[in-house]
Amino acid sequence: MIYFDNSATTQINPEVLATYNKVATDIWGNPSSLHKLGDRSHQLLEASRKQIAELLGVKQHEIFFTSGGTESNNTAIKGTAIQKREFGKHIITSSVEHASVANSFTALENLGYRVTRLPVDKKGRVNVNDLRNALDSDTTLVSIMGVNNEIGTIQPIEEISDLLENYPTVQFHVDNVQALGKNIWEQVFTPRVDLSSLSAHKFHAPRGIGILYKKEGKMLTPLHDGGGQEKGLRSGTENLPAIAGMAKAVRLLLEDEPEKAKRELAIKQKITDYLKDKPGIHIFSPIDGFAPHILCFALEGIRGETLVHTLEEQDIFVSTTSACASKTADEASTLVAMKVDDKIATSAIRLSFDESNTMEEADKFIEVFDKIYKHFAKINHLGEN
Ligand SMILES: Cc1ncc(COP(=O)(O)O)c(C=O)c1O
Repeated sequence: MIYFDNSATTQINPEVLATYNKVATDIWGNPSSLHKLGDRSHQLLEASRKQIAELLGVKQHEIFFTSGGTESNNTAIKGTAIQKREFGKHIITSSVEHASVANSFTALENLGYRVTRLPVDKKGRVNVNDLRNALDSDTTLVSIMGVNNEIGTIQPIEEISDLLENYPTVQFHVDNVQALGKNIWEQVFTPRVDLSSLSAHKFHAPRGIGILYKKEGKMLTPLHDGGGQEKGLRSGTENLPAIAGMAKAVRLLLEDEPEKAKRELAIKQKITDYLKDKPGIHIFSPIDGFAPHILCFALEGIRGETLVHTLEEQDIFVSTTSACASKTADEASTLVAMKVDDKIATSAIRLSFDESNTMEEADKFIEVFDKIYKHFAKINHLGEN
């Protein structure tokens, strides 16, 4: 089997699973309980938070545990909009965000907030001048993703950060679910970032657990009210086995990070070299300015889902761009925002790599894809004019 769908989810690491099992079996007290079982759980909870904070270079009390990227995004966006509603009701995002961001903005729009969705260029990148023009005295929030999940564009978070230095009251949220462990962290997590979202199942930890980074002093209205866990920001008994597993997964992810990213990039480069210049192939994820692990391309004339299933028959697993949206949307929303022709957008597939993938798998992919390509190229008369 070749699994090139790591941006959808990753396989749990056996060491992480062992930690999960051990904590679920041995350290099952409620961290809020006053007795020693609770105390032990509380200590592990805080040790996990400390480890993650140190690995990310932030303060322990800036890390909040959530159920994943979707919840972190909802909390950052709606929590800011509600918190700051007295000061302004204008909020800004891009037109290529994950549904958990895009739909949070739509929900707020329906409640009367004014939303600006920044356009993108042909590489799926927002323009900092557009943001400059959109900002006004009513703006309370800017939310722009670090790495696009459909084609891998790295957004100009550093330039945006420089601009937002002049707008200290605007909260800056970056969805970094696709960005951690790809050796680009400094580009997408600057000191100006106030809020950032991470999801553990994207880096070999369990599903249903994630992180919201919230800079010291920044205010959010909680969306989950209850027992006051996570300093009142996210009530609900903590998922300690998953949190401890995630802490281990972050450590493993960041070990030899440059080497791993280099390997992923080499796979992307190899497949890109094979695809480029082939009639009917459109590549949307060049090397420069893009994450090393995502390669989105289209083979004109074949729907993405047909290609996904044709590859699946050969035991190769890929996505039609964003797996989360691919059962509901016909086209990749990022490609639509880039004004890619509909026929080509519906043909796009996404390969996403991680450190466990090999060059042999890249060779095998090329061998299998080449047969498919030749077959369809003949039917569709590609390259004949
Ligand atoms: C960029 C981005 N943001 C948010 C999410 C949602 O994360 P989760 O699955 O943990 O809710 C995803 C998942 O694919 C994503 O790619």
